[in-house]
Amino acid sequence: MGFVYSQLFVQLPYPTGSYAGKTIVVTGSNTGLGKEAARHYARLGASRIILAVRSIDKGNVAKADIESTTSCGEKTIEVWQLDMGSYASVKDFAAKLQSKLGRVDIFNANAGLAKTKYNLVEDNEEMITVNVISTFLLAALVLPKLKETANRFNVQPTLAITSSGAHAFAKFPQKDAAEGQIFNTINDPNASQKVFGEQYPLSKLLEIFAVRSIGEKDLGVTVNCLSPGFCESELARDADGIAFPMMKFFLARTTEKGSRTVVHAGSCGSETHGKYLSDCKVAEPAAIVTGPEGRKLQERLWDELTQKLEAIQPGVTANFRS
Ligand SMILES: NC(=O)c1ccc[n+]([C@@H]2O[C@H](COP(=O)([O-])OP(=O)(O)OC[C@H]3O[C@@H](n4cnc5c(N)ncnc54)[C@H](OP(=O)(O)O)[C@@H]3O)[C@@H](O)[C@H]2O)c1
Repeated sequence: MGFVYSQLFVQLPYPTGSYAGKTIVVTGSNTGLGKEAARHYARLGASRIILAVRSIDKGNVAKADIESTTSCGEKTIEVWQLDMGSYASVKDFAAKLQSKLGRVDIFNANAGLAKTKYNLVEDNEEMITVNVISTFLLAALVLPKLKETANRFNVQPTLAITSSGAHAFAKFPQKDAAEGQIFNTINDPNASQKVFGEQYPLSKLLEIFAVRSIGEKDLGVTVNCLSPGFCESELARDADGIAFPMMKFFLARTTEKGSRTVVHAGSCGSETHGKYLSDCKVAEPAAIVTGPEGRKLQERLWDELTQKLEAIQPGVTANFRS
């Protein structure tokens, strides 16, 4: 009932205020929540907005669309290539960000996908690579620029990861795997086949666990995660049948309304560090996170995740420390 109430009756605050002087990066911003979040930032006067997208053509269409509906002009928005299905692309993007941007005030790590079939991308099932491993690889690689921004301009930048309320649907049987084997079990096509419907929720649950681990260190940068609620977007582009479109018809927020949660989380301060936000407020994630086994599970997952990130880019996880 809480979900239905939230979808139908909660009023999300329309973003206001000025973002003048701020440089903002939004990943997955050629469409959906990311594009509408970028449109809010453009409307509110952000000085520089990077649309981080896997298709430059689609990014350019989004840029033209945002420019035509705001008075941001032609120089505010830039389209940069980022394919979260490729660790090399994540590294290239982060290197460009480090060298080309003088500051980053808000980084919305929003790109994500929901698949109905198993695909191996890099060394994991695709949703695990894109939503989890690449998202935290990217976070680690851009944190130095956010920390530098904090020190140079005496501000507290924010890195907000778009998670999901759907995380609560993950029963996560793979958590009972032997020590060091949780990700291997999640990625095992035979093991995951039995619970593949839960793979997307699980990827979003893993994001929440990781943000809580990052939140244990004072970085001078806020790292939080958010649920946008259930929204109109292209996320379920692979889904078939009529159940999902029906549910969408009755319950989904508009993309613009959902994007308010993305802008809100990106605009929050240190009180949200390590926290999960829902309906534009700090909220409790599911009991699997906060319950008696949550702490131990968080530590096991963080150990495995950081080992995977170190294998991709040795030394990178030091960026999660103060
Ligand atoms: N809509 C909802 O109800 C809902 C609910 C909870 C959470 N979320 C989360 O919200 C975020 C945004 O999703 P959305 O609903 O706006 O869906 P969307 O309309 O499908 O947008 C997803 C964005 O992520 C990008 N993306 C996907 N795979 C990528 C990759 N490998 N590399 C780079 N970019 C990639 C997509 O680019 P392409 O267009 O090129 O594929 C697109 O720009 C996701 O993290 C999603 O999990 C959505």
